[in-house]
Amino acid sequence: MSLNYGSDNKSALQAKFDAQKIAFAPIMFQAAKSLRDLGILEIIKKHNKDGLTKESISKDLDLPLYGVKVLLEAGLSLEIVMVDNDKFHLTKTGWHLLCDELTRVNMDFTNDVNYLGFFNLTDSIKTARPSGLKIFGDWETIYEGLSELPIDVQKSWFAFDHFYSDYAFPEILPIVLESDVKFVLDVGGNTGKFAIKCAEHKEDVKISILDLPGQLEKAYLNIQNNGFSDRISGYPINLLDHSKPFPNGADVIWMSQFLDCFSQADIMELLKRSKEAMSDASSLFIMETYWDKQKFEASTYSLHATSLYFTSMANGCSQMYHSEDMLNLIDNSGLYVEKSYDNIGISHTLYKCKKK
Ligand SMILES: C[S@@+](CC[C@H](N)C(=O)[O-])C[C@H]1O[C@@H](n2cnc3c(N)ncnc32)[C@H](O)[C@@H]1O
Repeated sequence: MSLNYGSDNKSALQAKFDAQKIAFAPIMFQAAKSLRDLGILEIIKKHNKDGLTKESISKDLDLPLYGVKVLLEAGLSLEIVMVDNDKFHLTKTGWHLLCDELTRVNMDFTNDVNYLGFFNLTDSIKTARPSGLKIFGDWETIYEGLSELPIDVQKSWFAFDHFYSDYAFPEILPIVLESDVKFVLDVGGNTGKFAIKCAEHKEDVKISILDLPGQLEKAYLNIQNNGFSDRISGYPINLLDHSKPFPNGADVIWMSQFLDCFSQADIMELLKRSKEAMSDASSLFIMETYWDKQKFEASTYSLHATSLYFTSMANGCSQMYHSEDMLNLIDNSGLYVEKSYDNIGISHTLYKCKKK
């Protein structure tokens, strides 16, 4: 496969402006976040028809006028707000920053999980280690420490993870849980969200969640609270230990937003272990977001940025993959894609794989 993406046909002036946007991006990001978190965007939205002066914003929110002034001026360059006769109004971009859940989830993830650690990105690139993770703890990967991260960081991590998969689950359940499916292995099942959805969708299906012990503690609580302890079990395992086989006998092996947490070498081993646990009748379903499969530029942009979260914070070696990377790994592990489903949820692709 040869990679083709992008072009270089903007004017020199535009190129220079875009370079300045990058040069000041972290400062302007924090400005946008302050405008959101201090309630400035909210109060402008409430009075958007007539607009608000900086003085009235300062007075209503009990914030120093100086601070409101510099933030609003940054907001003008960010095109979050516009001003007309001294009165500030929210732009469409400003509306998205304030009201669009996708934008909020991405922004909180960037700030709470990534911002501080990203000072170490260059080191991560050189060492293939998640050098930024040390700001939270001394773990090899973020997954080992997930249940011990500060509560606000966990909240933003889970909100980010769940936001994307939550949209996809309802669409794929009828595909994954065909009538003869009785036993599902949910590999990297995290807090049990998918397992619980399966149990709700089909009353004769049993699910076993393979994940690290810390994540399973959370899953057990959720499973119990939903009354499914008789049908959903946990299987504590470090999946990076490739000497440990997967449990046999599953009709479906399910991997959602999971393989992106691993290097290509580890994915190969995980796929081979899946294959060893599969019969000819069983299926492996892989649901991922591939950057080349996106309908919108905004999605590809978000996925390229998310890749670097894996580099700097998560493990130093994985990413949001190109679909060809995954298809090669599937092929080389002795599996094949029987059916492919694009445009699932917000941005997912689902591969149904069988043993060759
Ligand atoms: C990004 S989350 C995906 C969660 C869920 N499948 C979904 O679609 O929302 C990846 C999951 O893989 C698990 N995981 C990552 N590395 C692991 C490892 N070495 N052993 C076991 N589980 C691991 C994490 O704990 C986490 O629950």
